[in-house]
Amino acid sequence: MAKRILLVLIALIVIGAVGFFALAWKPAIAPVDPPPAAGFAAALVARGEQLAGAGNCASCHTAPGGAAYAGGLAMETGFGTVYSTNITPDADTGIGRWSREAFVRAMREGVARDGSHLLPAFPYDHFTKVRDEDLDALYAYFMTRAAVSAEAPANTIPFPLNIRLLQAGWKLLFFDLHKGVYEARADKGEEWNRGAYLAEGLGHCGACHTPRNSLGAEKRHLAYAGASIKAWWAPALNAASTSPMPWTQDDLYAYLRTGGSTLHGVAAGTMSDVVHAGLAKLPDEDVRAVALYFADLNGSAARTAASAEALTQAMARSRADASEEIDAGAALYRAACASCHYNGGAQPLAPRPELALSSTVTGPDPSNFIHIVLHGIGDGEGLPGLYMPGFAASLSDADIANLAAYLRRSRSDQPAWNALPSTVAKLRTQPAGAEQ
Ligand code: HEC
Ligand code: HEC
Ligand code: HEC
Repeated sequence: MAKRILLVLIALIVIGAVGFFALAWKPAIAPVDPPPAAGFAAALVARGEQLAGAGNCASCHTAPGGAAYAGGLAMETGFGTVYSTNITPDADTGIGRWSREAFVRAMREGVARDGSHLLPAFPYDHFTKVRDEDLDALYAYFMTRAAVSAEAPANTIPFPLNIRLLQAGWKLLFFDLHKGVYEARADKGEEWNRGAYLAEGLGHCGACHTPRNSLGAEKRHLAYAGASIKAWWAPALNAASTSPMPWTQDDLYAYLRTGGSTLHGVAAGTMSDVVHAGLAKLPDEDVRAVALYFADLNGSAARTAASAEALTQAMARSRADASEEIDAGAALYRAACASCHYNGGAQPLAPRPELALSSTVTGPDPSNFIHIVLHGIGDGEGLPGLYMPGFAASLSDADIANLAAYLRRSRSDQPAWNALPSTVAKLRTQPAGAEQ
């Protein structure tokens, strides 16, 4: 009896292994001669440029100081460093020999031309939703860029995790190929579906705003619930948002189009790059559609009735300063910050971001606040033309921790942040950079 069970078990393991291998093994797609740029219609290339912006391809595929799309950007994954690849049409080091079919398979299935599985640091789990005509436009755009010869450095993921065939196991667990291309929801309008398509597909907003499990896959049931990403905090975009004011379509549009909304705050860190290097390429109606989708997800319609009161309360909070003479954080705030951040009127002014309305103060994680105080916000980041000085040289870890604790206590109802001084010390050594 025991022997029979053993035999059945062995048979099952063998069948499993053969089945896995059959699923995991992908054929190479034959190389082609780089297609001549003149063969692509100008309008298709132009649409491809917009879509490449929506997908932020440049941010990941361009190394600091390197040629656009030539790859080599180092990405820390928790399992090792992964380098983005060269996606210019260079025949030897880029994707010049990739047919349209090979490009589409990479975007939809995360499989390279030679048949090897790509790592999920490349967000193909989002790009799989992109429609044929948009993949055509992207292919046309990339095949008409200047070819750059550049080899990406080797990844440092240790054995056995570096065996690309094993990525098929990750896909089996976390990637549902058959969900495939985005399907419009019949109960929603055209603009909403357009926004959902862009956000869930090319925009891959969830790659930063959705928490991941220990194997690096997004937790789908917590979509857009907020997540830690490269020492920044990507705030919740769903009903878990801690913003005192609801994120309406107009506010989201302002934030995603210009880099800031007076009733919420400005886009710093990696989000500044998403706005200014990526979404900036998209036409207004696409950005409005993305804004509508997230206005719906965070339930702004249900909250607008209470928003006048929330605004009055926030403005009152930030005027209450003078009474707190003895607090070290309050004193520092008055000396170093209030001259720029004080709002006397009923509405905040754009050049004076209202900290009582900002997720950097009301959010669950102090990282964004600390990064911004340490490194400031450059001229081209956040709202362009505005500039926030960095205080890394003039304020100690304890000073910044006191400031954070003071603003958290006086400007929000949220529980105190823990371990502030050590978090400041840790983030002081991190680059402020906008890279992903
Ligand atoms: C979040 C970062 C990120 C973004 C955004 C991103 N990529 Fe990538 N991409 C990568 C990484 C990392 C790899 C290499 C993965 C690997 O080595 O397995 C890669 C690989 C690829 C490959 C396979 C190339 C090869 O030589 O194997 C293609 C094609 C590609 N990306 C196209 C795109 C396009 C088109 C966009 C924009 C729509 C894009 N990527 C956006 C990170 C990114
Ligand atoms: C590379 C990571 C990344 C991607 C991709 C990304 N975000 Fe963000 N997002 C962030 C970070 C980090 C912040 C916090 C920025 C700050 O506090 O200045 C943020 C902030 C935001 C905020 C402000 C939320 C608040 O309450 O303050 C909105 C709205 C937003 N993102 C929308 C989007 C949308 C829509 C997309 C997709 C088109 C997107 N993000 C893609 C990282 C990302
Ligand atoms: C010289 C004027 C100035 C000073 C001084 C200043 N800030 Fe700012 N701050 C700004 C401006 C302007 C912005 C928006 C920058 C942009 O959009 O590019 C900003 C943005 C911010 C943000 C992002 C808020 C959001 O809307 O998401 C935080 C947090 C912040 N400041 C905190 C502080 C703190 C704390 C201090 C004192 C240590 C301080 N600032 C001192 C001008 C200033």
